[in-house]
Amino acid sequence: MTASDEENLQLTPVTVLGLGPMGRALAAAFLAARHPVTVWNRTPGRTGDLLDRGATLATSVEDAVRAGQLVVTCLIDYDALHATLRQSTEGWEGRQLVNLTSGEPAQARATAVWASARGIDYLDGAILTPTPAVGTPSAAVLYSGASDVYEAVAATLAAIGGTATYLGDDHGRASAFDVALLDLFATSVNGIVHAFALSSAEGIAPEQFAAFATGIGGLLPEMITRFAQQIQADHCPGDRSTIASAASGITHVINTSATHGIDVGVLTAAKTVIDRAVADGYGPQGLARLTTTLHKDGRAWTTEGT
Ligand SMILES: NC(=O)c1ccc[n+]([C@@H]2O[C@H](COP(=O)([O-])OP(=O)(O)OC[C@H]3O[C@@H](n4cnc5c(N)ncnc54)[C@H](OP(=O)(O)O)[C@@H]3O)[C@@H](O)[C@H]2O)c1
Repeated sequence: MTASDEENLQLTPVTVLGLGPMGRALAAAFLAARHPVTVWNRTPGRTGDLLDRGATLATSVEDAVRAGQLVVTCLIDYDALHATLRQSTEGWEGRQLVNLTSGEPAQARATAVWASARGIDYLDGAILTPTPAVGTPSAAVLYSGASDVYEAVAATLAAIGGTATYLGDDHGRASAFDVALLDLFATSVNGIVHAFALSSAEGIAPEQFAAFATGIGGLLPEMITRFAQQIQADHCPGDRSTIASAASGITHVINTSATHGIDVGVLTAAKTVIDRAVADGYGPQGLARLTTTLHKDGRAWTTEGT
């Protein structure tokens, strides 16, 4: 990057709409990269130390949009996003909107249609890391939407730090990755808290249990990579463990949990899928084959959306 590129970067004005923990972290990262930053939030008094650090507070969405070349939105959901954007239908000429609000692929695509009808250059994104990572090398953000819009904003977005991955022109693509990763996260958290509930009911101290539980967690990266290969190849051998064996294992967990009065809803839902796989003749196959059973039409994986 040349000195003049650097100067331009510093001068690119950024507006951040939404000052929850993530919106504040984003605004702080743009300030740290010396961009002029304007912030707006529905409820006053959420600026933290951003004004002391040089941010300007806009009192309306319209003023905030006019102040920025790049407008970043980071709100609780797409309803909040549209409730906010509706307050500024004018003043978007020559500006880019990058939405970092988490949501669903269909919502991102519908917002792209909404933006296009108003002549707004729109990019959707998904932040994969927590607030302390923002502005550091460990940040990770996915983007999707028109490539020329991404190229126009990529240098400014570099202030968020870490790894930026552009996923192509389908506006829903970043969100598609995000929801699938949230699926993994949500079900993992459920497993963790359920295991703590069960182990403590059996009189095991949480710290003593954690020493072994982290070992299970350590198995997951290799397992994810291996499952990916098996699902892609539509070949899920049961040489390490089988679905039939998992049916037996999860039954022990359900029965022991039930004796302690611990909710078994999540586990019985998982067992229903395992039982269906066994009924479909997949008992001798490996656990990656459960993906086939989860799909109503029985396919192993899909190229839809690629
Ligand atoms: N925090 C994280 O670690 C993290 C990590 C990755 C992704 N994200 C994503 O980043 C987004 C923002 O998250 P967050 O942690 O900053 O906080 P959040 O609690 O998800 O969102 C708070 C923001 O949404 C605004 N909001 C809520 N309802 C609104 C409405 N009807 N109209 C206008 N604004 C509304 C709030 O304004 P008020 O102050 O007025 O209520 C506030 O600015 C979410 O989509 C989240 O999934 C967060």
